[in-house]
Amino acid sequence: MSGPNTDYDPVEVTPLKSDEVDAMREAALAAIEAAGDLDELKRVRIEHTADRSPLALANREIGALPPQARKDAGMRVGQARGAVNQALAARQATLEVEHEARILVEESVDVTLPWDREPRGARHPLTTIQELVGDVFVAMGWEVAEGPEVEAEWLNFDALNLGPDHAARTMQDTFWLEPSDGGLVLRTHTSPVQARTMLTRTPPIYVICPGRVYRTDELDATHTPVFHQVEGLVIDRGITMAHLKGTLDHFAEAMFGQGITTRFRPSYFPFTEPSAEVDLVCFVCRGTGLNSAGDLDSCRTCKGEGWIEWGGCGVVNPRVLVACGIDPEEYTGFAFGMGLERTLMFRHGIEDMRDIVEGDVRFSLPFGTEI
Ligand code: PHE
Repeated sequence: MSGPNTDYDPVEVTPLKSDEVDAMREAALAAIEAAGDLDELKRVRIEHTADRSPLALANREIGALPPQARKDAGMRVGQARGAVNQALAARQATLEVEHEARILVEESVDVTLPWDREPRGARHPLTTIQELVGDVFVAMGWEVAEGPEVEAEWLNFDALNLGPDHAARTMQDTFWLEPSDGGLVLRTHTSPVQARTMLTRTPPIYVICPGRVYRTDELDATHTPVFHQVEGLVIDRGITMAHLKGTLDHFAEAMFGQGITTRFRPSYFPFTEPSAEVDLVCFVCRGTGLNSAGDLDSCRTCKGEGWIEWGGCGVVNPRVLVACGIDPEEYTGFAFGMGLERTLMFRHGIEDMRDIVEGDVRFSLPFGTEI
């Protein structure tokens, strides 16, 4: 049976020499003091107090010593471990306080800083002008009508007096949907919405039809293959071209300001008779045709004309009324159509249509972020 080793010479047990234990204690205390943050202190704690630390190993050897040596060594090692644990606890407390103080500074929120530095999103200027146009007409008691962008050939052309052999069909460069004899197109104007309205409603009809339309144009400063139109249609008893002129003058002033009225130039559209191009008083020179500097150069916007072209209009062709089931003996009507991009360009001095379609936020931002 093995008992305590009474012959054991403690002098030979190096780790238990008093100066060795003191050295272990000093090393641990120095490391604790040097620990700069809680993570470092955790490593120091493992290194100096865990099972394989010098003091723990020394502690394990105590049992093998003769009684007196065991007592002395026990006291020495015990005191050293006590001092180390105390120092660890004290350093832990200090570092925790420091840590919290640092977090308070580092993670503090300056509530006086502006909070909305992320720019807010907004609807595109084309959308807002479309709604503005809607408001102008709704205020006069009109309704807003919408229709599909993939449209029946018959509604886009035939119903509007543009039969298959009509020369004017080529005026509108059309995207045809596959199969080519399937009778479907991407609508080339919003006039088919007018046909749809006449086919489903009985007069009086007062509608505007805003929407996206397609033509096989190349994208350049004044053309885009996808653009927007707003067309208007009125069918009622006793409607004349005078009503059309008054409506467009009001529309023009609502869009471009007082005094910017319209003039009509004779033109041709298959769906209206008579037909006219609508010109606006030039909003830059206000009709004088003169350069704003007052010199002899003419106004650059209207090239000295005093007028700029805005859209097309006319009295609804009786053939269209018949095709859409309305009696031309009882009702007459007028229609007009304007490009929304063009309207936006005039209203805001935009010179290149590509700016409108490219989606660069630098273009939209000056229009504001009103939702
Ligand atoms: N639909 C015609 C176009 O897109 C515009 C227009 C509408 C002309 C109504 C006259 C009357 O070219």
